[in-house]
This record gives sequence, structure tokens and C-alpha cells, in this order.
Amino acid sequence: MTVKVLFVCLGNICRSPTAHSVFQKLVDEASLQSHIEVDSAGTGDWHIGRKPDSRSAQAAAQRGYDLSALRARQVIVADFDQFDYILAMDTNNLQDLQDICPLHFNGDLALFLSYGSGLSLDEVPDPYYGSGGGFDQVLDLVENASAGLLTHIKDVHF
Ligand code: 4NP
Repeated sequence: MTVKVLFVCLGNICRSPTAHSVFQKLVDEASLQSHIEVDSAGTGDWHIGRKPDSRSAQAAAQRGYDLSALRARQVIVADFDQFDYILAMDTNNLQDLQDICPLHFNGDLALFLSYGSGLSLDEVPDPYYGSGGGFDQVLDLVENASAGLLTHIKDVHF
């Protein structure tokens, strides 16, 4: 069986591509590529087709994650038929997703950081308008929750 995971933020150029790449690397290291598919999307449409924000790409590259192949896309209602886990970076993203979630969706629509452990935040703060330090904080939070998510998926599905 294949478990499909979609990470969602607002623009799909900072937080969700970071989560996409960090979680994909964990999946690859666990040799679970043929069992877990990973994607990311934004609730907004401003950046469709664009590469990740250069500040996110640079911060991620310093920790060994390559965001260069990713391109932004917008969430579509059909994603709810494709994905088992749809994980929002913040409560605004989650509300926007709940607003379009079909009644028949029986996957997990949740805040991504609900899979973290020992975190003092339950949302990944939007780094886009910040002074720069937010990009490392995004990576810290995303690495934590990605580890918890992979453990959860292995426990529940495999
Ligand atoms: P993201 O960050 O949701 O983590 O990709 C943002 C990117 C772009 C904008 C806002 C947040 N924007 O307003 O264009």
C-alpha cells in the first residue's frame, strides 16, 4: 500500500516545500519511497509555478535538503481524494482546508506540528515577512514533526 502525504501552507514557497523536502529525505533514508508519497501545495495562488523562496532554499541547503526541483501549486479539492494525510502549517491554512474539505474525506486533516514532540508551538510561523531568522525556526519545527509523522505512519500503516 502507498500512504500519501500533502503538506500545505499559504504560498507553497517557504514552509510546505521545506516540510516536503525534509520529510522526503526521512522517507528516502528509511527506504520507504515506494510506500510513502510526498507532495506540497499552497492555499493561495500567487506563486503557482515558482521555485521555493531563495531564503528557504538556502537555509534548507545548509542542512542538506535540496528544494530546487520543487514548484509551487495550489491545493485543489481533488487532493482530498488523493491524499491520506493533509497537514497544515498554521491554523489559517487548516481553516481554509476545512472550508473545502469534502464530507467523504476520511484521511487526516490536521496541524503538522500535532506530530511533533516537546514543542512549545502548535503552528509553523510564517517566515515570509520576517527578518530572516524564521527560516531556521521553520527547519527546527519541521524536522521535529517529520520524525514524529514518520514514526506514526510506520506504526499505523506498516
Ligand atoms: P509560505 O510563506 O506560506 O510558508 O509559503 C508565504 C509565502 C508567500 C506569501 C505569504 C507566505 N505571500 O504573501 O506572498
